[in-house]
Amino acid sequence: MEGKRSKKRKRAKRLKFQKEKDNSPAVEEIDERKEEEEEEEEEEEESSDCAFAKRTKSQGLSKSSTFLEKMKAKLSGGHFRMLNEKLYTCTGKEALEYFKEDPQLFNVYHAGYQEQMSHWPEQPVNIIIEWLKDHSPSLVVADFGCGDARLAKNVKNKVFSFDLVANDPSVIACDMSKTPLDSSVIDVAVFCLSLMGTNLASFLKEAHRVLKPCGWLLIAEVKSRFDPNTGGADPKKFSKAVCELGFTSVFKDFSNKMFILLYFKKKDKQTLNRKEIEWPQLKPCLYKRR
Ligand SMILES: C[S@@+](CC[C@H](N)C(=O)[O-])C[C@H]1O[C@@H](n2cnc3c(N)ncnc32)[C@H](O)[C@@H]1O
Repeated sequence: MEGKRSKKRKRAKRLKFQKEKDNSPAVEEIDERKEEEEEEEEEEEESSDCAFAKRTKSQGLSKSSTFLEKMKAKLSGGHFRMLNEKLYTCTGKEALEYFKEDPQLFNVYHAGYQEQMSHWPEQPVNIIIEWLKDHSPSLVVADFGCGDARLAKNVKNKVFSFDLVANDPSVIACDMSKTPLDSSVIDVAVFCLSLMGTNLASFLKEAHRVLKPCGWLLIAEVKSRFDPNTGGADPKKFSKAVCELGFTSVFKDFSNKMFILLYFKKKDKQTLNRKEIEWPQLKPCLYKRR
């Protein structure tokens, strides 16, 4: 009992320190909720441990498999964080080469990513799916960094799904700065939490190339990446850079706690922009160790 109390005191201290140090909502809130869940689980485990001990004594079973499973989960969590950091700190080309060498790493990344997302109250991909359902199913979509192609699986539209590894037969494996699409063939280009590489401007340039005039560009990104108070980009500067690429900003949605949604349209007529575009740095979304 005393052990549990001191654990709670330590946790409160840790959260206070963490809050002072880092204000990233995406990470903090997930961590806090997860820790509460873990404590509840541990409490449940402790009470069920007595029953389990009695059972193992009588049945001769070992607890080592539970321990091994926990260790495995910890190791794969660490592996996920390493891969996630890699994707945010290298170019798309380097990321493609990296996963080509060992495509299994992509599964490790996505298992960890799904685990993180299971703690988000709402998933941005579902909002984009709903947006598409409210528009004509004849719109042709390109999903840049599609993951498990959830978007394509949930709408009637024709969807071209791109990612570094094709985990599903419908996915085209490529670096999304160079898709095999012809120019001006797409009505909606989607980036759902996928502006990860250090060359993200080239991903958006590619979207501009493949979009038809007046085509939509939908971007969902982790909110903390756009918080200038914690080293993130100024969303106005980011939006300005996208507009200089040849888009018009239509709508911004900052209402969600975890992510922001930006809606742009490709300009009908392109004016020649000789000025170099100044892209603000988007802070990588690094998940903390749990
Ligand atoms: C955070 S996941 C999001 C997946 C999906 N859009 C969703 O919302 O569930 C980002 C995805 O973008 C992909 N990605 C990152 N850089 C890429 C690149 N240069 N080319 C293609 N895919 C890329 C990653 O492999 C990963 O699957």
